[in-house]
Amino acid sequence: MTKRILVFRQISDEQLSALEQDFSVDYLPDTASVEDPAFLDALGHAHGLVGSSLAITPTLLDRAPNLEAIASISVGYDNYPVDELTRRGILLCNTPDVLTETTADTGFLLIMCTARRAIELAQLIKEGNWTESIGSDLYGSDVHGKTLGMVGMGRIGAAVARRGALGFGMNILYTKASPKPDLERELGAKRREFDQLLAEADIVCVTVPLSAETEKLFGAREFAQMKPGACFVNIARGKVVDEAAMIEALGDGTLHAAGLDVFEHEPLAADSPLPQMNNVVALPHIGSATNETRTAMAQRAVDNIRLALRGERPISPVNEEVLKG
Ligand code: DGY
Repeated sequence: MTKRILVFRQISDEQLSALEQDFSVDYLPDTASVEDPAFLDALGHAHGLVGSSLAITPTLLDRAPNLEAIASISVGYDNYPVDELTRRGILLCNTPDVLTETTADTGFLLIMCTARRAIELAQLIKEGNWTESIGSDLYGSDVHGKTLGMVGMGRIGAAVARRGALGFGMNILYTKASPKPDLERELGAKRREFDQLLAEADIVCVTVPLSAETEKLFGAREFAQMKPGACFVNIARGKVVDEAAMIEALGDGTLHAAGLDVFEHEPLAADSPLPQMNNVVALPHIGSATNETRTAMAQRAVDNIRLALRGERPISPVNEEVLKG
């Protein structure tokens, strides 16, 4: 029997053809909601799913009795109920490694734009308001030689830290449950307790995955602990931050400035005050969004689903236990 897969995000024509050689494919790249009747219909007979950015709930899984594997086109998997998938014997795969450098580039883009006020100052020209040399009220802060505090030092965190240490001569601090002696040797990075890192860093950059432990890790208390003039950069997940508390801290000056690629609710609501704040650089979750990297991520997902549905080991499984069972 030919297995059926539902692809609910855009992939290349070549990738689609490759899948069609092995499977019967329902291709619904513009699916915006799990309530979409075409999505629900295809889900009902799918053996595999390929896509990203939809919340797959246990209730939804009840509507997918044939489901054997999901290949997410993302490294983060906080939108999947991993334990429930494992309990049902459904394999989940993600796309680590191929997006590390691009996402770290986005982190550094935000660090630079936020500290140097690049977007706010570019706006002066766009609006025809560059009529004289800018004054000290519009000066930014240096990035080189400053202290970069990495909250999370996984693959992406390490790649951001490497840019900071090797490219910008920054001192690197990091929080992590266990020490990273290799990075300490390579970058001179120093491990700190969370509160201590907040007190010492000029730029705090968050790369931790979203979990029960990291949800709302940053709130009013944490922003108040950061150094005056320090910048906050989040390329992890919006829910790692208490967004209302961050807006308040940015508004009253407790938090100097923020560079944000991720938000509590995405897409960001039209009435969010964040994009209007001069001390905020807001990007529409573009961490890995380059042609090269999104193509590589989709390819990894295609490879993962082909292997998983053939009963072979995929390249990057999340819930390995399913393979053993
Ligand atoms: C990821 O891969 O997790 C990115 O944040 C895109 O969702």
